[in-house]
Amino acid sequence: MIVESNNPPVNALGHAVRKGLVEAIEAAEADEAVKAVVIACAGQTFFAGADVSEFGTPKAFEAPMLPQVVDRIEACTKPVVAAIHGTALGGGLEVALSCHYRVAVPSAKLGTPEVKLGILPGAGGTQRLPRVAGVEKALEMCATGNQVSAKQASDFGLVDRLIEGDLLPHAVAYAEEVRDIRPLPKSSERQDRVEGVADSVFDDFRKANARKFRGFDAPEANIQAVKVATQKPYGEGVLEERRLFMELMSGKQAKAQQYFFFAERKAAKIDDIPDDTRPRDIRRVGVIGAGTMGGGISMNFLSAGIPVTIVEMSQDALDRGTGVVRKNYEASAAKGRFTGEQVQQAMGNLNPTLDFDALAECDLIIEAVYENMDVKKEVFGRLDKIAKQGAILASNTSYLNVNEIAASTSRPQDVVGLHFFSPANIMKLLEVVRGDKTAPDVLLTAMQLAKRIRKVAVVAGVCHGFIGNRMLMPRQVEATKLLLEGASPEQVDRVHVEFGMPMGPFQMADLAGVDIGWHRDPNRIENVRDALCAIDRWGQKKGAGFYDYDERRQPSPSPKVQQIIEDFAAQQGVERREITDQEIIERTIYTMVNEGAKILEEGMAQRASDIDVVWVYGYGWPVYKGGPMFWADNYEKLDTIVAGLKRNEERMGDDASFSQLLLDKAEKGEKFTR
Ligand code: 3HC
Repeated sequence: MIVESNNPPVNALGHAVRKGLVEAIEAAEADEAVKAVVIACAGQTFFAGADVSEFGTPKAFEAPMLPQVVDRIEACTKPVVAAIHGTALGGGLEVALSCHYRVAVPSAKLGTPEVKLGILPGAGGTQRLPRVAGVEKALEMCATGNQVSAKQASDFGLVDRLIEGDLLPHAVAYAEEVRDIRPLPKSSERQDRVEGVADSVFDDFRKANARKFRGFDAPEANIQAVKVATQKPYGEGVLEERRLFMELMSGKQAKAQQYFFFAERKAAKIDDIPDDTRPRDIRRVGVIGAGTMGGGISMNFLSAGIPVTIVEMSQDALDRGTGVVRKNYEASAAKGRFTGEQVQQAMGNLNPTLDFDALAECDLIIEAVYENMDVKKEVFGRLDKIAKQGAILASNTSYLNVNEIAASTSRPQDVVGLHFFSPANIMKLLEVVRGDKTAPDVLLTAMQLAKRIRKVAVVAGVCHGFIGNRMLMPRQVEATKLLLEGASPEQVDRVHVEFGMPMGPFQMADLAGVDIGWHRDPNRIENVRDALCAIDRWGQKKGAGFYDYDERRQPSPSPKVQQIIEDFAAQQGVERREITDQEIIERTIYTMVNEGAKILEEGMAQRASDIDVVWVYGYGWPVYKGGPMFWADNYEKLDTIVAGLKRNEERMGDDASFSQLLLDKAEKGEKFTR
């Protein structure tokens, strides 16, 4: 008997599907003619997990719940085969694990991504997976949420057979092969792979992933749950799993991470473009500038199999840029992320040239030249003359006015901002900057292309710094003032790292380059930054910035910088005092929330959750705190934010003006996010 689920788009295991599965197994059990069962899914994928949209609603608790479903499947007295295509994720993999056999097409992926939602597999997954796949694989899958390919899964016993060709007929043939084998293999009864596992396996895993897991609750709970499988029989293990599951589910982190799951998907949607809009065809991309940014941008397209024409002004710069791209690919290949063949293919798709006119054949051209309006206008003026009709002309500017850039062409409807974040081949965020005249199909193309190159795109309006960098500015202004008032770079950075950010404002400045945006006149010293640049303290690249660096790039506090700060404070008559960590939060992080509210108020972001997506993917805001707007709503509360800002109003002076939207929402007890 074939049991096929058809619940688009991803066959999530909502109540109706759970009920249908149990009814089908009961029917198979009752029908003497049925000798074996195949569970399969129609559409793009096998079950992609529990239905996350049911979480927190009564539907999630309506019987049969997933643990009952999987137990019923495993208890079936006839062999049950899971036929997997697409992705078997979370509850979907738990269903597959409860089947007696699993077959899959080679392109299928399997995983337990619950940890990314702040929880753990709650339907026996943490107890069945180690019994089938082994403890080390189960640990890795549960605690990181990383997927494995069907091929890998078959190597370590999670998949019984790889199916080349049509899945369903082969799965049925497989079921016929195994129909008479008794006893039925039950995952929950296996002990061989969970016996005699040393504690060091878990400790070593924790140590190896300490940085990645910092601040998160769910990875540790996943580790503990898998460990239980090595200590207790299945029946006790699932009780412990349930306890840990409920604990995580009722916590703040799970709410934040589940909110973020939907935030990320919502970001891809543009509210006001007509339904019948069709994307433009992008077959070849042009990139102007082979510097760090241009090279990184090119890699995104090359990795997705899209040919790139990259243009530079001198052979030297072109060779250097191409060399860096090759080196990056080779480094990734050494880490196993690409095969040699993929590297060859990517490099083969790169066409480096000095001939600007070669861009004429490109469907999308991205400018990544020096951040200066005159330079950009000149480039776009030239592009306007040679680009083919309908080509999309994009600027990678991080601050400049996209409308003004568009006005330097005769086709502003084709111009858009594509703001990649550095390193552009790695960072997931792409700000798509919508000019006043940008055509709907250009926007749609940008959003869809982002998905093709595995970026998360967020639409921003035209304003200085768009969403991310605009919110960074008030943070930087206040952080720098705090230095003069008595905080040290180490204190400000520590507060941010303890908050959960990967680094603080001054560590970030040293990494990016203190000299970014510097006027380059060593005699003109107007602030601490100018003073550092004037004495060659440009950040990590020079071995000195706000911090001193040793040869391994390890930072230490700099007495020299401290002196410069104190001299400046004295010169400007700033009274130095003890600064509390709380004041740092209020003046740097509350100000970001205030700026985020202004961005919303001005319509520069479509929704508050888009701002959160920008900060999580662009700047490493801890996803377990949802993003600045979610955090303001749910962790800190808006009236606390307003009170904190008011407390510091005098010190912040002209640098801080209140967002009316923030004031209104705080007063009415409303939230930015849902
Ligand atoms: N529940 C509810 N809706 C889901 C869902 C889920 N598990 N997974 C995806 N969706 C929805 C998305 O919100 C989106 O809806 P929209 O079109 O209205 O925006 C739609 O399905 C398509 O999703 P994507 O845009 O992400 O489509 P892709 O094709 O890019 O990716 C996917 C497909 C790989 C399945 C991806 O959606 C995914 O990773 N989903 C989440 C899987 C997951 O986390 N599963 C675990 C759930 S928790 C669980 O199972 C608990 C259990 O242990 C008890």
